[in-house]
Amino acid sequence: MKVTRVVAGAAVAAAVLVSLNATGAPAAPAGKVAAVPGSVPGAAALTAQQSAADSKTLRELAKRTGMKIGTAVDMGALANDATYKQHVASEFNSVTAENVMKWSELEPTRGTLNFGPADELVAFAKANGQSVRGHTLLWHNQLPTWLTDGVASGDIDSAELRQLLRQHIFTVAGHFRGKIYQWDVANEVIDDNAQLRNTIWLQKLGPGYIADVFRWAHQADPKAKLYINDYNVEGLNAKADAYYALVKQLKADRVPIHGFGMQGHLGVQYGFDGRALANVQRFEALGLETSFTEVDVRMIMPTDNTKLHAQANGYSILLRACLLAKRCVSFTVWGFTDKYSWVPGVFEGEGAANLLDENFGQKPAYQAVSQTLALAG
Ligand code: XIL
Repeated sequence: MKVTRVVAGAAVAAAVLVSLNATGAPAAPAGKVAAVPGSVPGAAALTAQQSAADSKTLRELAKRTGMKIGTAVDMGALANDATYKQHVASEFNSVTAENVMKWSELEPTRGTLNFGPADELVAFAKANGQSVRGHTLLWHNQLPTWLTDGVASGDIDSAELRQLLRQHIFTVAGHFRGKIYQWDVANEVIDDNAQLRNTIWLQKLGPGYIADVFRWAHQADPKAKLYINDYNVEGLNAKADAYYALVKQLKADRVPIHGFGMQGHLGVQYGFDGRALANVQRFEALGLETSFTEVDVRMIMPTDNTKLHAQANGYSILLRACLLAKRCVSFTVWGFTDKYSWVPGVFEGEGAANLLDENFGQKPAYQAVSQTLALAG
């Protein structure tokens, strides 16, 4: 099905997409800003796509590609900022809860489930003809304090922890059953040294917890595509290799895992690995679909034109990989305006990671995404 998305367009467009993909440069040496000349895509052949892109929203352009274009949604901004809300509805056909489906948000008090905000997002998506990505059933961050404190004090032993996790997955995936097209079942379970991450899950439940969470999620919502999801796995590197080996093993063990999610939190100052397509293709060869799930491209502040164009290139490398792959189902950005971004709060001195600036003005990255979608459709 993905083949038609490129073949159906002009052969020229396909050739441009392929050649653009080949320009992805390997990571720049540490500390060196990636040198990216010109805007992306910048070829003269793109003039027709340029005007198509100018008059259409991202979701309109993505429609013919067969790939969903999504954003993480900040529920506070959705409630209080009409411009933000209007953009979520018009630009995207997939939404992810930035926070409200995480365990700490759903069950701040043990035994009391607060599905209100997440249900609001699902209703918003339905009203606007959007699909919903679920994020996330298992993570080591944003866990309720009653849970982490209980484990730390020994009040919750390993057997009880396993039962709590099982119950959590059945309750949450069951609550949204039939309404979520992709679930991030396991998030960030491998660390930056390419080892299984040393979390309470690994410590208390052992490595088998990963297979368990997929089996439970599949029972709770048999139609949802179940994803394993992480950052720094967008190219060919040791961490992505570790995921490849893990997924291969899970498949061999007949664990119901269907998707590999690459978060796509990039930084201009690190350069970009141009081998994203090769990485996507090796996971698809294991029988998985793929998605980019949390794309943003941060930079050291202040912004300048070179950084903004390098940023556009980062977005383009990932988007082209998705468009050129056979089973890359969705491309989600982790917010779309610099007005509401997690980056400045977490990465000191960095920011401006999104497609639109703080006033919802289009940055070169937006133009690049828009034009690349116009080419592919
Ligand atoms: C982030 C949210 O954007 C923030 O609002 C929150 O304070 C912390 O989490 N990887 C993930 C996401 O899988 O859930 C994280 O989201 C960003 C990194």
